[in-house]
Amino acid sequence: MPSPLRIAILASGRGSNFAALLAARERAELPVEFVLVASDKADAPVLQLAQSAGVPSVVLDPREYAERRDYDLALFERIAASKPDLLVLAGFMRIIDGDALKPWAGRMINIHPSLLPKYRGLHTHRRALKAGDAEHGASVHYVTAELDGGPVIAQTRLQIQPGDDENTLAARLLPLEHQLLPAVVRLIAADRLALREGGIRFDGEPLRKPLRWQDGQLTR
Ligand code: GRF
Repeated sequence: MPSPLRIAILASGRGSNFAALLAARERAELPVEFVLVASDKADAPVLQLAQSAGVPSVVLDPREYAERRDYDLALFERIAASKPDLLVLAGFMRIIDGDALKPWAGRMINIHPSLLPKYRGLHTHRRALKAGDAEHGASVHYVTAELDGGPVIAQTRLQIQPGDDENTLAARLLPLEHQLLPAVVRLIAADRLALREGGIRFDGEPLRKPLRWQDGQLTR
C-alpha cells in the first residue's frame, strides 16, 4: 500500500475545515496523515483541535519578526521540517511571501469562500450580497503569490435567497466547504490532480474549468 499523503495545515482561527478533514479521515475516507498544524495565533481554537487529535502544532508570532518575509521563511522552514507532501491553508489569514511559497508550488491549496475569481480577499459574503449575485460559493485553489489568485481546482455553489444576510449565507456555505475540501484532498491523495506549467491536470487531462461539487461528488 502507498504511504499516506502527509499534510500540514495552516490556520489562524476556528479550524472547522481542519475538523472536517479529521472527520473524513476518521471515516476512513481520506488516506492521509496530518503531520503538523501551523498557526500565527497562539489562541487559535484550531490548536486545541490539533491537540485533541494528537497532531503536532507550531505557533510563530509575526510580531516577533521585523519583516513579513522573515516570518514567512521561518514559518515555512518549520513546516518543511515535518516533511509534508501537501500544505492546506484552512483559514490562514495572512498573505504569504512569494519566496516562501516558491518551493511549494503545486503542493499548497487554499479554501476561499467565494466563487473565484470573484471576491478575492475578505468579506466575500457581504460583497456577493451587495453585488446582488444570485449565486455564491466556495473555491479550492492552488496557492500562488497572487492572493486568492491561483488556479481553481473545484467549487461548490449555492443560491442566494431573498432575505439572506452575511450570517445566514456563511452558515449555509460552511457545511458545503466541509464537503468540498476533503473531496479535493482525496483527489490529491489519489494522485489525480497536478499543477503543470499549462495549468491543472485532472486524471492526466487539462482541467479547463473548475470541478464542481454536486450531489456528493466532484464532476467535470
Ligand atoms: C472558511 O470560511 C474558509 O473558506 C476561509 O476561512 C474560513 C475558515 O474557517 N478561508 P475555519 O477556521 O476552517 O472554521
